Amino acid sequence: MGDSSNNHGPSRRGFLKGAAATGAALGAAGAVKAEGDPLITEVQEWASSLGEGVDATPYGMPIEFESDVVRRNVEWLTADQISSINFTPIHALDGTITPQGCAFERHHSGAITLKKEDYRLMINGLVDTPLVFTYEDLERFPRSQQTFFLECAANTGMEWAGSQLNGAQYTHGMIHNMEYTGVSLRTLLEEAGLDAAGDLKDKWVYVEGADASSNGRSIPMEKALDDCMVAFKANGEALRMEHGYPVRLVVPGWEGNMWVKWLRRIEVMDKPVESREETSKYTDTLEDGTSRKWTWAMDAKSVVTSPSPQMPIKHGKGPLVITGLAWSGNGAITAVDVSLDGGVTWQEARLAEPGKKMALTRFYLDINWDGSEMFLQSRAMDETGYVQPTKAQLREVRGLNSIYHNNCIQTWHVNAKGEANNVEVS
Ligand code: MTE
Ligand code: CO
Repeated sequence: MGDSSNNHGPSRRGFLKGAAATGAALGAAGAVKAEGDPLITEVQEWASSLGEGVDATPYGMPIEFESDVVRRNVEWLTADQISSINFTPIHALDGTITPQGCAFERHHSGAITLKKEDYRLMINGLVDTPLVFTYEDLERFPRSQQTFFLECAANTGMEWAGSQLNGAQYTHGMIHNMEYTGVSLRTLLEEAGLDAAGDLKDKWVYVEGADASSNGRSIPMEKALDDCMVAFKANGEALRMEHGYPVRLVVPGWEGNMWVKWLRRIEVMDKPVESREETSKYTDTLEDGTSRKWTWAMDAKSVVTSPSPQMPIKHGKGPLVITGLAWSGNGAITAVDVSLDGGVTWQEARLAEPGKKMALTRFYLDINWDGSEMFLQSRAMDETGYVQPTKAQLREVRGLNSIYHNNCIQTWHVNAKGEANNVEVS
């Protein structure tokens, strides 16, 4: 998809070797001279004393120097903390897995404390045998394990009205990507017996949580039987309280609101409930004032995470790693292009790994920055052939009344000093 040459040119290693040969360029690449640098020439304290013993931290936390890599909220966005949102520090992370401790949280009535012993999951409605499972029951069904992104439908929502939040964490941080372990929803529905539901084509499941908001949502049976998962582990360990401990629903590729936390009940129905969360919320109001409902899959999207407003270029001209994330709720990412000039020309970025279905993909573009200003953009393409739209293209179709489902191309203006800001290009 790139319309200028593919960036499979000299590797960074090749570049550094070349730079070393010319001497002068080495400084630009960031290497230091050994002479006169006490960190090289003198024995340091950490090499001449003992470190902490293995029992000092039974459960480790990030080292103190990383204390700014945390979830953050924007106070004026929501009326109070109980029904609020914070943002994943995507600008400071690399790779694709989001550690649970800094994965954004969104709850409508606060995060609840629910013990495994007190956990019950009911399946009722149009099933042969309504069932109630304990946590231990769930652990005895065959398990699966897969990595998926969860994106809140409101992610990037403030961008409809212009460039208001200055940082990838705030514009794109309502997303996380975890490796889940659990039981497929299909297995549990079949355990309860779906024969009673008859023809499954027009059937639905209504899923709700144990918290006061319940966050009830209707999911078409086809999706429920396809790839939904009743998950109890994330990134290898128990779900954190804020992500739904002990059990949450995973609805791959679909808007985060459907991923019910503290999952307590699944009812098989012959129609959708049309609850609050699927009517007055998470619908898209169009230019003519009508609202579009059932926007479930999150369309292909990407963002440059560094450089970005919270990650300015501090090293000056020379080798620069541009990196970001891409994802699609409709399948795997196949390509990501990066533009340095606001979308006039594009170069194909390098995917760190081939795209995985409904999971984050990391991309890199290694350039030799000449110190001139850039209008940095990225655009994702998925396996359906869909290409991430510009803001203008999206506004043409959706108008300006939307809050949710904004997957437009994001622009960071990077000035000659390396500082980056959220801007719009027309
Ligand atoms: N499930 C329950 N029970 N209660 C909630 O408030 N919030 C939903 C969804 N599931 C919510 C819920 C919304 S809007 C989103 S975006 C995701 O959970 C957020 O999941 P996270 O907090 O793990 O990031
Ligand atoms: Co949400």
